Amino acid sequence: MEFFRLAVLLFLICTPKYCASSGVDPTLQLELVHVLTRHGDRNMLDPKWSYPDDPYRNESYWPEGYAQLSKLGKQQHYALGQWFRTRYSKFLSEAYSLYDIYVESSDVDRTIMSAQANLAGLYPPNGTIDPTSVWNEALPWQPIPVHTIPKDFDNKLQLSAPCPRASRLISDYNNGPETIAILSENAEMFAHFANNTGRPIRNLADVHFLYDPLLIKSIHNYSLPAWSEGYFPGGQLFNLTSMSFRVWTWNDELKRLKGGPMIKEVVQHFQEKVQGVNYSVGQGETVRLTDTTDEFEVDERPEADDHTDGARKLQSSIKTLDKRMKFFMSSGHDTTISSVLNSLGVWNGLPPPYASAVMFELKRKPGRIQGDKEAYFVEIYYRNETGPSDPNLLTIPGCAASCRLDKFVELTRSAIPLNWEWDCIDASFTA
Ligand SMILES: *[C@@H]1O[C@H](CO)[C@@H](O)[C@H](O)[C@H]1NC(C)=O
Ligand SMILES: *[C@@H]1O[C@H](CO)[C@@H](O)[C@H](O)[C@H]1NC(C)=O
Ligand SMILES: *[C@@H]1O[C@H](CO)[C@@H](O)[C@H](O)[C@H]1NC(C)=O
Ligand SMILES: *[C@@H]1O[C@H](CO)[C@@H](O)[C@H](O)[C@H]1NC(C)=O
Ligand SMILES: *[C@@H]1O[C@H](CO)[C@@H](O)[C@H](O)[C@H]1NC(C)=O
Ligand SMILES: *[C@@H]1O[C@H](CO)[C@@H](O)[C@H](O)[C@H]1NC(C)=O
Ligand SMILES: *[C@@H]1O[C@H](CO)[C@@H](O)[C@H](O)[C@H]1NC(C)=O
Repeated sequence: MEFFRLAVLLFLICTPKYCASSGVDPTLQLELVHVLTRHGDRNMLDPKWSYPDDPYRNESYWPEGYAQLSKLGKQQHYALGQWFRTRYSKFLSEAYSLYDIYVESSDVDRTIMSAQANLAGLYPPNGTIDPTSVWNEALPWQPIPVHTIPKDFDNKLQLSAPCPRASRLISDYNNGPETIAILSENAEMFAHFANNTGRPIRNLADVHFLYDPLLIKSIHNYSLPAWSEGYFPGGQLFNLTSMSFRVWTWNDELKRLKGGPMIKEVVQHFQEKVQGVNYSVGQGETVRLTDTTDEFEVDERPEADDHTDGARKLQSSIKTLDKRMKFFMSSGHDTTISSVLNSLGVWNGLPPPYASAVMFELKRKPGRIQGDKEAYFVEIYYRNETGPSDPNLLTIPGCAASCRLDKFVELTRSAIPLNWEWDCIDASFTA
């Protein structure tokens, strides 16, 4: 009987795609979740990214406004919130509590609205469970806070904080041998685009901005320009657009500067959970990871004097959150997801779809006490479809899919900046 129950349990936990050989330990119990999502379907970006004779360069075609979350996008994130509710039903209380969840978004309308739509799906009010959640009988919704980071300080979600060193390295790539080879291999196609759009293709970012207005039109059922026939969808244009997502993290230094701050925060929250201390959230770069061999040392804040004025301003924005917290949600962009995953060595090379989500899960061996270093494991899942789907299990190179936390910390160390502000100084500029 016991064996039968165990067998049924294993059958339920392991989908056929990855069981026996996946390296997942199905007995582990969830302790903490950190999710990173992309916003839902959006309208055309600023028309300056489109082509001059684009008939849809007129906001009347985009009722919510340029770059805004569309009605479809709202539905997608609401559905993702319901999916989180199902996935974490045993873990996350059905009643909203400030001690359970903390949500952060880039300061962009569509990511903030995506987080809000998501939370509507994750926390529908229910008077039986929580009488305070029903405050207007006619409205099955309750307000839940979504925090943002000012663009100029955001090195974690929009990756828009100025970082001269990163800009230099990206420009090195855009002027480097790989770009030159791509330009020459695709010279004919690019000349065709330039002829028809009036805009030259000089690097992969230009390819991306050519692809994007076509993709948005096709999703919104608007007609495509004749010159895109045979080039869109799919094919080499899609291939090169996918490659453009790698540019922000094309070498190890950029992985630290672009993907690193988010990874650092996840690792830090996992360590704080193990230690049973309050969490800290903020821009993060002034919170140094300890450089000792003891991965579970509380990270020390450097003295304010160690830093530039910018860093000091950020330090004052770091908040303390209750140690009971279970769920961190970060609402970002396709470039956030691709940069974080590529920095971890687990990106699939494809553009992250709308309302896709990476789930970092900290788990504990049952029966092991809190603080026991050998008891904690990290699993990473990627729900890389817009609609309901089984998430893909991602395995960090050098580790099992259930990766022991101390090993995870060791393997991600090189992708985490010690001092982002300092590392962003472009030394070659002054030389
Ligand atoms: C945008 O579309 C509206 C409605 O079709 C039209 O009245 C307006 O003239 C257009 N604006 C431009 C700049 O083309
Ligand atoms: C509210 O929660 C109760 C208890 O879990 C459940 O039976 C009921 O279906 C829920 N109501 C709604 C509207 O979801
Ligand atoms: C670009 O346009 C010019 C002039 O209209 C034409 O001669 C040329 O063949 C075009 N090139 C491509 C690649 O479409
Ligand atoms: C485009 O058309 C399809 C098929 O009719 C529909 O399902 C979809 O919702 C439409 N897209 C938008 C953004 O309205
Ligand atoms: C994608 O483009 C790169 C660079 O041009 C090329 O090396 C690669 O073979 C292409 N892959 C596919 C599937 O077309
Ligand atoms: C931890 O956070 C709680 C608020 O939830 C606060 O009351 C407490 O003082 C904090 N403890 C420390 C050591 O910062
Ligand atoms: C999701 O990831 C899998 C595995 O890398 C891939 O085969 C699939 O095409 C991806 N789906 C999308 C929509 O990118």
